[in-house]
Amino acid sequence: TGTVTFDPGFMNTAATTSAITYIDGDQGILRYRGYPIEQLAKHSSFLETSYLLIYGELPTPTELENFDQRIRRHTLLHEDLKGFFGGFPRDAHPMPVLSSAVSALSTFYQDSLDPFDEEQVELSTVRLMAKLPVIAAYAHKKSIGQPMLYPDNSMNLVENFMRLSFGLPAEPYEMDPDLVKALDLLLILHADHEQNCSTSTVRLVGSSNANMFASVSAGISALFGPLHGGANEAVLNMLRDIQSTGMAPETFMEKVKNKEDGVKLMGFGHRVYKNYDPRAKIVKATAHDILAKLGGNDELLDIAMRLEEKALADDYFIERKLYPNVDFYTGLIYKAMGFPEKMFTVLFAIGRLPGWIAQWREMMQDPQTKIGRPRQLYTGAPERDYPQR
Ligand code: CMC
Repeated sequence: TGTVTFDPGFMNTAATTSAITYIDGDQGILRYRGYPIEQLAKHSSFLETSYLLIYGELPTPTELENFDQRIRRHTLLHEDLKGFFGGFPRDAHPMPVLSSAVSALSTFYQDSLDPFDEEQVELSTVRLMAKLPVIAAYAHKKSIGQPMLYPDNSMNLVENFMRLSFGLPAEPYEMDPDLVKALDLLLILHADHEQNCSTSTVRLVGSSNANMFASVSAGISALFGPLHGGANEAVLNMLRDIQSTGMAPETFMEKVKNKEDGVKLMGFGHRVYKNYDPRAKIVKATAHDILAKLGGNDELLDIAMRLEEKALADDYFIERKLYPNVDFYTGLIYKAMGFPEKMFTVLFAIGRLPGWIAQWREMMQDPQTKIGRPRQLYTGAPERDYPQR
């Protein structure tokens, strides 16, 4: 009521209070529940960080063990849900497969849909944490025509996901602990980022009291876009285009600066960070390590580094405070791990899941929550009479 503020893109509108994630965009600071991202990246695990985000405190060893066990118990997908995958075209992008299957969880697990029943919320939390990586791996298997394996609950979430993505029924899967560690780290870095586009979507959908599966499915759809999570895939396509056309990175930069055909330097810029994205710093170091170990495509890494170097010294980028964001180097790592480009944003979704869940739960418990309903400034026709014909 009263004055309506015009704020396209919600640049200056805080729609909620939140105690989960702190960002200082000018200084390049990111903390989950007060813990600096650098410390979590070094010492924590994805599972522990997920617990921290969802429940507010680091778990004791017993609490972590219980959380882990509960998730392991819920990895199986309903057999009928598995049938879903056969209905999509072979070349389907795995992101809409993921959002559709997550939306379908509401039909298979109807005993955990009440957003105000604590036990049901707990159940949908572990179900999502357990099943999303399995759905993601199946979407990948479907796209390459390989059989879907059953989860192996002697493995943790990240190990299981690697095996389900790359394992075959006929031969034992040899887990590379360095890769598992690298993926675990990347998932930590993606685990939450306060009120970004997909998280705000999860909150907006949830604000109508929609269930957790429906809300998260909407978040996955929001993440799909190339300006958000889809940027990691777009970066690799951009690097590849530069490589295959033999274009000098300098020429590409000129196109970006002249805004030719709307070309952007994908993986650069951020709504909140006006300084180096702290996640990108960690990813960059990891990219060097992993590519050195796996012998990834060094030429693409070289192109990326040259683009970064040029951008950081260029007035266009300096004036606009554009720095590499988390998506700039992640694709190179995912690719070296063996994931096809179409899976990159799916990996982001697995990482962001605990953040979505934590934010959805925080909102449901917040007495200040109201249904999300922005206003508008009407610019259409004034009142006019329907023509009498
Ligand atoms: N390349 C070239 N110019 C850019 C870029 C870029 N990547 N990003 C922003 N600009 C320019 C933009 O054209 C504008 O210039 P001008 O003032 O001349 O009109 C100025 O910088 C401000 O940009 P904006 O688009 O108004 O800023 P925003 O806060 O609305 O958008 C963004 C933020 C992330 C959508 C944008 O920087 C972008 O499109 N980046 C490329 C896509 C990308 O990497 N997305 C990943 C974001 S990080 C993690 C995630 O969410 O996945």
